[in-house]
Amino acid sequence: MGYTDLREFLAKVEEFGELRKIEGMDWNVEMGAITEILYRERAEKSPALLFDRVKDYPAGYRCLYGMLNSPKRFALAMGIPLPQERGLMPLLHAYRQKMTGMKLIPPRYVKNGPVLENVMEGDDIDLLRFPVPVHHERDGGRYIGTADAVITRDPDEGWVNSGTYRVQLLDKNHCMLYISQGKQGRIQRDKYLEKGQPCPAVIVVGVDPILYAASRYQVPWGTSEFDYAGGLQGGPVEVIEGKYTGLPIPAHAEIALEGEVLPDKKDMEGPFGEWHGYYAGGKKEENVFLVKRVMFRTNPILTCAASQKPPHAHLFERCFIRSAGLWDGLEKAGCPDVKGVWVHGAGSGRTFNVVSIKQRYFGHSRQAGMLASQIPPSAYVGRFVIVVDDDIDPSNMDEVIWAMGSRCEPTQDIEITRKCWGSRLDPLQFTDQYYNSKAVIDACIPYEHIKDFAPVAESSPQLRKAIFSKHSKLMKELISGD
Ligand SMILES: Cc1cc2nc3c(=O)[nH]c(=O)nc-3n(C[C@H](O)[C@H](O)[C@H](O)COP(=O)(O)O)c2cc1C
Repeated sequence: MGYTDLREFLAKVEEFGELRKIEGMDWNVEMGAITEILYRERAEKSPALLFDRVKDYPAGYRCLYGMLNSPKRFALAMGIPLPQERGLMPLLHAYRQKMTGMKLIPPRYVKNGPVLENVMEGDDIDLLRFPVPVHHERDGGRYIGTADAVITRDPDEGWVNSGTYRVQLLDKNHCMLYISQGKQGRIQRDKYLEKGQPCPAVIVVGVDPILYAASRYQVPWGTSEFDYAGGLQGGPVEVIEGKYTGLPIPAHAEIALEGEVLPDKKDMEGPFGEWHGYYAGGKKEENVFLVKRVMFRTNPILTCAASQKPPHAHLFERCFIRSAGLWDGLEKAGCPDVKGVWVHGAGSGRTFNVVSIKQRYFGHSRQAGMLASQIPPSAYVGRFVIVVDDDIDPSNMDEVIWAMGSRCEPTQDIEITRKCWGSRLDPLQFTDQYYNSKAVIDACIPYEHIKDFAPVAESSPQLRKAIFSKHSKLMKELISGD
């Protein structure tokens, strides 16, 4: 992969000029606001931000934002070559190529690791030793877990899940997790709590790029993100066995909290500026997580991701991870000839997804659209799926809107499904029945007219080629603007 942990990754990022170190900022909204303002202006052209000497904290206790949010950082993290061609699709193809045929590799248990450089237990535990930020002005408190990995074990089936879920700090040894209904970590947690038992968990709040990428991706039920991360990096993730939980803890993590979600202790969690771009979902009771052991490296890095109205500092990579996941899911569900998928950033990486296909039969485009609306990552609070023909680049909104305006007849080509998988975090959720509805917009040429549809008014490939070879200097000048 070219790196073994977050520190080596950041050293490489610094080498190619995409790491900015900033000192002296306040943990209370300042780091979050600086990151937001930068990413709103420059999006994926922004560097990763490493805050040090945070107000009230000694040097070395650092916060990282924007870990993966650029083509170069994403490619480095995933161990893929950065394509020369412009546009989003070539990088998506490179990522998909890496995932195709990837083998799952289980973690390897080791006795020791950098995460054990410092350990706090019992009365010594003080989560406020870390510069835990208030990310946004209206957040209900300080959030220690945002770009994190929450590790739990299924009590019936025995396999280990890892998911990225927000974690609000309560006091020096308590915090609270928010896990949306239907998520794998939530299902596992509820299996313990419903029996009145505590749910053992490890929350890695200083996480390396690979486990982070795996934890925010919905790998199939029953498959561990550790095995997936091992596959991505081409070798096992080194883990130590948790003293209190028996759970695997990444040996090279920056900061890990081991403990349990208590069945009988609750407190108010939220609100939090969320992925949708709203403080939706308000404040609600959540079960409290009791921290029994804190492990951290000397000069630890708290990894942060403040969601908000797009664009933001963890949206770029989200579009790739989810587009690849949706494409993969469609193929596995048996939908042939998918030619492109793009999960748009403006849809917060969930609500507006486009699939392009080479139509092969009557009903193919509806099949692609209905499947895409119900499998991960669209299933959870997805709103719109647009299906286009393969002459349309799904990541190019001008082309997508053109197809919608010219190939979709609204009375025929919009399907709506109701009572689908929704969330408390949806700003349109006004009840405690967390459904949502989804629209599939079929913007493909009607299959019965595929051969006689009006020709597209643009130069043929032959004419373009002839113009470029006959007037190559002029065309280069015109296109480059020199
Ligand atoms: C930065 C970030 C924060 C997230 N926060 C939450 C959260 O607070 N709750 C939640 O249910 N999902 C959250 N997610 C989405 C989940 O990580 C994602 O759905 C993942 O697939 C869940 O893992 P699971 O499939 O093992 O449940 C977040 C994702 C990212 C990238």
